Amino acid sequence: MPAEQPAAWRPSDTELFTTHGDAFVPHRREQIAVVCDLLAGIPEPRVLDLCCGEGLLSAEYLRRDTRARVILLDGSPEMLDKAAARLAPFPGRWERVRADIHDRDWRRGAFGGVMTSLAVHHLDGAGKRELYRDLHGMLVPGGVFVMADLVEPAGARARAVAAEHWDRAVRDAGGDEAARAFERAEWNYYRLPGPDPLDTPSSVAEHLTWLADAGFADADVVWLHAGHAIFTATRP
Ligand SMILES: C[S@@+](CC[C@H](N)C(=O)[O-])C[C@H]1O[C@@H](n2cnc3c(N)ncnc32)[C@H](O)[C@@H]1O
Repeated sequence: MPAEQPAAWRPSDTELFTTHGDAFVPHRREQIAVVCDLLAGIPEPRVLDLCCGEGLLSAEYLRRDTRARVILLDGSPEMLDKAAARLAPFPGRWERVRADIHDRDWRRGAFGGVMTSLAVHHLDGAGKRELYRDLHGMLVPGGVFVMADLVEPAGARARAVAAEHWDRAVRDAGGDEAARAFERAEWNYYRLPGPDPLDTPSSVAEHLTWLADAGFADADVVWLHAGHAIFTATRP
């Protein structure tokens, strides 16, 4: 467990994201619903919420299935506190773990599902490949991985549309105040000029290849808007 904040994510990011997350994440409620839809009927209702943030995915998953249990994992103690407060109505059905996504110490256990949103893009390509191999080993047969995350557009036209649609989604959901905060923080990855050392999304094709290489079946994209995609894959 790291003694300090993860290098890539600062308390100021937590502050900004928890204030404006409902606007900054395009169609956030719909994304949460799709992630939980994909976890329906998993072999064991025990799910890891990787980089859980405020615990929105976990709250919806626990609400849907009274048998469900979740492990909340995040590098930020502030986020874990917020998630714990959100999940107070579900006593005894969740645990919290502070860990860095880059580390491998936490990569053990037997889960029916792993869900994650807006975090795996902090790993580089090699890190994602290793993560997918490790997650495959952490799932029981028939277990399901579901990931919502930014993807790297394959070309300039797709990037321009992702940038435009993301700006529009933020304004539609949060109005002028959210749009100004989004622009000030330079949060729209698709408008940034060059490679970013902290945010390193991969293309849809790369994710699907790496998931298959890790041993997953039925790797697919089921939702995509404004550069945000939801993937699913199953351990055979
Ligand atoms: C954009 S937020 C997404 C939170 C949540 N999954 C959601 O969709 O609302 C990214 C989350 O990843 C966490 N995070 C960022 N870098 C991390 C790292 N290296 N290790 C562990 N957690 C990290 C942050 O603390 C934050 O909670």
